[in-house]
Amino acid sequence: MHDFKFKNGRLYCEGVALEQLARECGTPLYVYSQHTITAHFQKLDRALAGLPDRLVCFAMKANSNAAILRLLANLGGGFDIVSAGELFRVVQAGGDSRRCVFAGVGKTDEEIRYALAQGIYCFNVESAPEIERINRLAREVNERAPIAIRVNPNVEAHTHAKITTGTYENKFGIAIEDVEAVYAHAATLPGIHIRGVQMHIGSQITSVGPFVKAVKKVLPLVKKLRQLYAIEFFSIGGGIGICYDPALESATPEWWSRTPKARAWLTPQRYAASLVPLLAPLGLRVLIEPGRFIVGNAGALVTRVQYVKSTPEKTFVIVDAGMNDLIRPAFYDSYHQIVPLRQTRGTLVADVVGPICESGDYFAKGRKLAAVKEGDGVALLSAGAYGMAMASNYNSRPLAAEVLVNGNRYAVVRERQAVEDLNRGEKVAGWLKR
Ligand code: LLP
Repeated sequence: MHDFKFKNGRLYCEGVALEQLARECGTPLYVYSQHTITAHFQKLDRALAGLPDRLVCFAMKANSNAAILRLLANLGGGFDIVSAGELFRVVQAGGDSRRCVFAGVGKTDEEIRYALAQGIYCFNVESAPEIERINRLAREVNERAPIAIRVNPNVEAHTHAKITTGTYENKFGIAIEDVEAVYAHAATLPGIHIRGVQMHIGSQITSVGPFVKAVKKVLPLVKKLRQLYAIEFFSIGGGIGICYDPALESATPEWWSRTPKARAWLTPQRYAASLVPLLAPLGLRVLIEPGRFIVGNAGALVTRVQYVKSTPEKTFVIVDAGMNDLIRPAFYDSYHQIVPLRQTRGTLVADVVGPICESGDYFAKGRKLAAVKEGDGVALLSAGAYGMAMASNYNSRPLAAEVLVNGNRYAVVRERQAVEDLNRGEKVAGWLKR
């Protein structure tokens, strides 16, 4: 579900035409629908109503724009953070640090100190040495740091290798076989307060099976930990996949039933129907950490065609966004639907590419597109998660602007970077001065 739709041949985000946004704000431009974000948060939260004590912690690595953080904080969300920088952004956006869980395998002293000072809900610990370090730093300020251990359940998530996290091939968490001993040791440390247990098996998981498998595998441990240490929560992580290819969404029921992967397509209802019965009897607080599900389909990257170029082999549609703006196709071979801002007659088959000096700088290969031409705007859909958040200044390209749409209104929620921003903080070594 999302709020990017054609009305009278023009593509709108809610009540605002994208062509208007492209004209007034320039391109490349990230556009987000406040309604889609809100609806996704609430759908998921309500589907989990069978868990009265629950907290949806938005995995802000997916999108860390302050307006989106504020929106989700206002909806009652917490945040899954992975750096001091992310915690800083939450605090700046008016979010509640007591609703933050801090994951990541490489937390530094500085980051741990900052999180202690801000009073976060929990450190999700990813190794035995990390507990020693948190203990030491908490002792320094006479505190007991709340921790959960991230359990690696060694369950295959059946997703892209680069976003699988819950097997022993991955650097994340502590092996399920070892975790009890680590808890037992943690319980002896004066600077540690054992608060919960956490897991996260991967991202863009499109069926409920891997979640069920992992939760079932970890449940006996959770029960034991509740008895031993009176833990108060179990976080089952994020990873709920979204639909990037609308051909899947519009497929007939017959097609669904013929296609095993599609039959099990993940919805909040399906997710909750399988997981709530497993989790509710625990009587613990349950956390989930969705990123992509909340914001993925709520965002589009709007870009303008600069040139259409034909070689003896193929046609290239060259747009003004590049892999520095949206790296997902280059990095994961991911699919993003590409639609024109104004519907046109006819089609063409082309590679849609950016201006960056790499052959990997593409958004689609051999894609059948609306017949676009120089100057036309197009939108890359489902770019709200891991789009702007992974953008860079590669090729010295200023970061795109971001806009939040709410009904018929819009606000620029991040200004386009200026070229002057590009070398801010750089200095020419003294001995090189002219
Ligand atoms: N919790 C933890 C501990 C995580 O590491 C992640 C994502 C999440 C939650 C949220 O996962 P989500 O609900 O968004 O699937 N850049 C990649 C995705 C990387 C995901 C990293 N961890 C992409 O563009 O597909």
